[in-house]
Amino acid sequence: ADNKVYRASTFAPVNIAVIKYWGKRDAKLNLPTNSSLSVTLSQDDLRTHTTASCSTQYPKDSLTLNGSDQDISGARTQACLAELRTLRRQLEESDSSLPRLASLPLKIVSRNNFPTAAGLASSAAGFAAFVRAIANLYELKSTPTELSRIARQGSGSACRSLFGGYVAWQMGDKKDGSDSVAVEVAPAEHWSDMRAVILVASAEKKDVSSTSGMQQTVATSTLFAERIANTVPRRMQEMEKAIADKDFAAFASLTMKDSNSFHATCLDTEPPIFYMNDTSRAAIRMVDMINSEAGKTIAAYTFDAGPNAVVYYQAHDEAKVAGVFKSVLGDKEGWEGARGKSVEAANTPK
Ligand code: PMV
Repeated sequence: ADNKVYRASTFAPVNIAVIKYWGKRDAKLNLPTNSSLSVTLSQDDLRTHTTASCSTQYPKDSLTLNGSDQDISGARTQACLAELRTLRRQLEESDSSLPRLASLPLKIVSRNNFPTAAGLASSAAGFAAFVRAIANLYELKSTPTELSRIARQGSGSACRSLFGGYVAWQMGDKKDGSDSVAVEVAPAEHWSDMRAVILVASAEKKDVSSTSGMQQTVATSTLFAERIANTVPRRMQEMEKAIADKDFAAFASLTMKDSNSFHATCLDTEPPIFYMNDTSRAAIRMVDMINSEAGKTIAAYTFDAGPNAVVYYQAHDEAKVAGVFKSVLGDKEGWEGARGKSVEAANTPK
């Protein structure tokens, strides 16, 4: 082969689930115990930028994140690479004029503009960008749903970052995971005044990874069985309706209940897992206060596997929600200054 460097770049956005993925039925393929639903946030604010290149000049596959070398020998990363190379090989076999890229070492350079592994869905944007950058480099014709099946194997929540707007990850029921993919529930324009303010209670790495937290929950929580058998399937339907109707009160109520249900199953494990801290609980009380003062539900909190709050609201309530958080909590200890950052629900990344 020639010694050219082939290159492609992409951005992938963060998504924050309003019905949480928590629990794997197959740890190797990252198949979930329940479907989940998220809102994709604007990539102007929170995103991973990734450049994928390949060349005979490179000694081996490599990945850097924010300038530091990452271990890519893990099964998750290797599964994504193998799938992408297989698709490229199929293209090369069907068209002999194509350069033989599938066998060349890859160099992936990735950068987040937000704290890594602090429960800010960094792995979601990270693996989505990883998969899309290589798919672009390989000029694959795959749809976002097809790529979501690959990104899912890197990090479950990553499959939802292949789409903008309102996105469901359908758990599927096949053993090989071929139907465990992301689909668009509604485009960002459908409900375009959705906003989120993110309150960084701690930018440190979370102490229980989502993988081990899920494993422990599935193994030891008794609440968990009810959550996956009844609670989540019902709420998925109710959430899709709330989004179709642009019914913020219903959206908010379901979002808060589902976050609490997920954290309750974590507390119900042996030993218990605490992702939220005192600062997180202060944020919950603040949302309650904002809603009581408004006389209706205008703000909804949700927490992933970490203490940071994401508060959803609608643009016309900016002052009453994001404004209050920024002014009241902005200079309190634990909130590291004016941490609130508002972002819009965004479109499918190009
Ligand atoms: O994608 P993972 O393995 O990092 O798991 C993410 C789990 C939650 O963020 C807590 C929930 C979700 O649906 O994103």
